[in-house]
Amino acid sequence: MSTEKTVLVTGGAGYIGSHAVLALARAGVKVVVLDNLVYGHREATEWLHGVELYTGDIGNRELLRRIFAEHPIDAVMHFAAYAYVGESVTNPGKYYLNNVSATLVLLDEMVAAGILNFVFSSTCATYGVPVKLPLTEDHSQIPINPYGQTKLMVEKILADFDRAHGLKSVCFRYFNAAGADPEGRIGEMHDPETHLIPLVLDAASGTREFISIFGTDYETPDGTCIRDYIHVADLADAHLLGLSFLESEKRSMSFNLGNEQGTSVREIIDAAVRVTGKEVPVREADRREGDPPILVGSSALAERTLGWKPQFGDIETIVRHAWRWHQSKAWARPVSE
Ligand SMILES: NC(=O)c1ccc[n+]([C@@H]2O[C@H](COP(=O)([O-])OP(=O)(O)OC[C@H]3O[C@@H](n4cnc5c(N)ncnc54)[C@H](O)[C@@H]3O)[C@@H](O)[C@H]2O)c1
Repeated sequence: MSTEKTVLVTGGAGYIGSHAVLALARAGVKVVVLDNLVYGHREATEWLHGVELYTGDIGNRELLRRIFAEHPIDAVMHFAAYAYVGESVTNPGKYYLNNVSATLVLLDEMVAAGILNFVFSSTCATYGVPVKLPLTEDHSQIPINPYGQTKLMVEKILADFDRAHGLKSVCFRYFNAAGADPEGRIGEMHDPETHLIPLVLDAASGTREFISIFGTDYETPDGTCIRDYIHVADLADAHLLGLSFLESEKRSMSFNLGNEQGTSVREIIDAAVRVTGKEVPVREADRREGDPPILVGSSALAERTLGWKPQFGDIETIVRHAWRWHQSKAWARPVSE
């Protein structure tokens, strides 16, 4: 990656976005972050020398015009979105407005400014209930909740923007992002937290009384749901490769980003017990509606096309990095030059 590249990272103060900002900065890319800090943390990127944060909304045309005028942006990585599946069911308008309408404003302003490279955070939730496993990119996309719908809508909008305006995009359909910066400088800090690994670690450290297992009678080896956990640093690396792909290939493509290994809820809890050396109190509960027993993706296309291969595939490593962060939750401090 050449040093004079400038990338706008929306949602760069959030969990996955901040790890991408770190990877970009380490690759010598100039990074501009746009985040309204509704869920993000200023501390996640302010320690990185040369990264500029604009606190504001992706739907703010004036602000976007200012950023595009002030920086020679070559590409946009778009992480900013709301991502609580349950809330998207009870308050769909909030999701369609933020994830679709505001994204449309961003795309519109990009086209107006002649910025035509876009990396998009999509999700395995666009597939809906799996008909065939592991999920490949050509699997039918029939989301079962508004959150998944919003991401699929943006994928479709991007196909239209490519045809109409030549805006090229890489859509990454992540499976379950997990872990933290291997050096412990940044990590996951969602509020509210809904992701399994941090919740299990809360139960291990005693800040949560117990972890609920929703369903123990699934047709899986230990009866609990199986998911595909992918290390956040591996996701971040994929974004750099996605950017290079756009620069060299000048075409749009969608890729799954997963570990290709299923891990059950009980296996996560067992890994947490081994890593932390602590008890994890568990309560068994009924199945949750809409939870497929197994969600595992094939990332063969990303490996073949981008040369991407997860470095931190082992679940114990993922949990260890998450635990290291979880114990301190101390953001890295700015280094004075
Ligand atoms: N975490 C996962 O496992 C997962 C899986 C699949 C897809 N994704 C997608 O990846 C992206 C990042 O997820 P995350 O877990 O890092 O979430 P996050 O909430 O930590 O990060 C999202 C960031 O976007 C910001 N934001 C939201 N709306 C905004 C707006 N209108 N303008 C400016 N900033 C805004 C938030 O303040 C936050 O910092 C999201 O698009 C999410 O849908 C996440």
